[in-house]
Amino acid sequence: MTNISYDIENIRKQFPVLHQQVNNRQLVYLDNAATTQKPLSVIEALDIFYKTTNANIHRGAHYLANKATVQFEGTREKIRSFINAKETAEIIFTSGTTDSINLVAQTWGRKNITTGDEILLSMMEHHSNIVPWQMLAEEKGAVIKVIPVTESGEWQIDAIDSLLNERTKLVAVNHVSNSLGTINPIKMLIDKAHSYGAKVLIDAAQSVSHFATDVQELDCDFMCFSGHKIYGPTGTGVLYGKYDLLEAMPPWRGGGEMISSVSFEKTTYNSLPHKFEAGTPHIAGVIALSSAIDFMNEFQWDDLIDHEKNILAYATSKISHIEGLRIFGTSTEKTGVISFDVEGIHPYDIGTLLDKQGIAVRTGHHCTEPLWSYYGVTGSVRASFAIYTTTEEIDLFVDALHKSISMLR
Ligand SMILES: Cc1ncc(COP(=O)(O)O)c(C=O)c1O
Repeated sequence: MTNISYDIENIRKQFPVLHQQVNNRQLVYLDNAATTQKPLSVIEALDIFYKTTNANIHRGAHYLANKATVQFEGTREKIRSFINAKETAEIIFTSGTTDSINLVAQTWGRKNITTGDEILLSMMEHHSNIVPWQMLAEEKGAVIKVIPVTESGEWQIDAIDSLLNERTKLVAVNHVSNSLGTINPIKMLIDKAHSYGAKVLIDAAQSVSHFATDVQELDCDFMCFSGHKIYGPTGTGVLYGKYDLLEAMPPWRGGGEMISSVSFEKTTYNSLPHKFEAGTPHIAGVIALSSAIDFMNEFQWDDLIDHEKNILAYATSKISHIEGLRIFGTSTEKTGVISFDVEGIHPYDIGTLLDKQGIAVRTGHHCTEPLWSYYGVTGSVRASFAIYTTTEEIDLFVDALHKSISMLR
């Protein structure tokens, strides 16, 4: 990565959506864990593709089809390098994290999980890393086990040893919790799981845009993330899998592109990665995802991490003394997420009043209902930060929060 200094004004210039008023106030976008905004280079890549290149990939012998194919496959190589996978064939394009997890559940899972097998999840998983495994477990008679969390929103490390055993076939956990921001010690869990012969899937939806990811160093078996949470287009996602595992997995969706030859007597399947990419993908989106990776690659991870830590510390110090305010997720290892509630006030009411003042936060269960059951609440207000969040925006947020609370008390 080249070292450019962290020039927040210049960064913000690249995000047109930030420069607008909503409800007659300057927009303060603090819903980045739901989706990040897109830099001009990504928006322009989509525009340029449709203006100059639009063609279907892999199939055509003409100029535009070849150009689109080269750009599409170029993104695969860029993603490989970004997460340090060994081979481009290990990078499967999907429509997002949810799609990637379902792919693994329906192919690797249906082939390898049988009655009595155990799948280990954690209490802080997103629904998309719970429900596909529940569906599989129901079909196969497998058992779901859950790593409990502590009050501070971290895994109960002591419980892990008693939850892993020879029946554990899969461990599926997030690297970073979308509701709490906790960065989980996944390397430790991957090594423990492997010692029992279990495979490990990492839901990296909330981690890939926050710090460097090295799938070889982690030694995870599968990793999933969404393009739209890393400054890229919606409808794009990635499944990384170790080559031998992917190779041994049956295909999932049938259709064009995923076959080698088709006859009514026998159909044979394409090689990796195409075996898992049936039909026409989001070609423009994948090509624009390449621009999102280029955008990320302009920074040093240390600069991004420092910026996020500073914003998180600043925001936390500004709101933590508010009477009746409770922060969920107080680990020292955290990305830029603050989930909170205020005694006696519904999170939705706070979110609505913040919105009236131009502040975009998320309220509700953030697709982690089991986690909120553990805390004994139905959800929280979540402010989540990104590369372009400023301390001035935090001041506006805190000011608006004070006003909202005093109106609701
Ligand atoms: C941790 C985590 N996993 C999975 C998902 C699902 O991602 P997508 O909706 O892009 O498939 C999200 C989205 O919020 C998430 O935060």
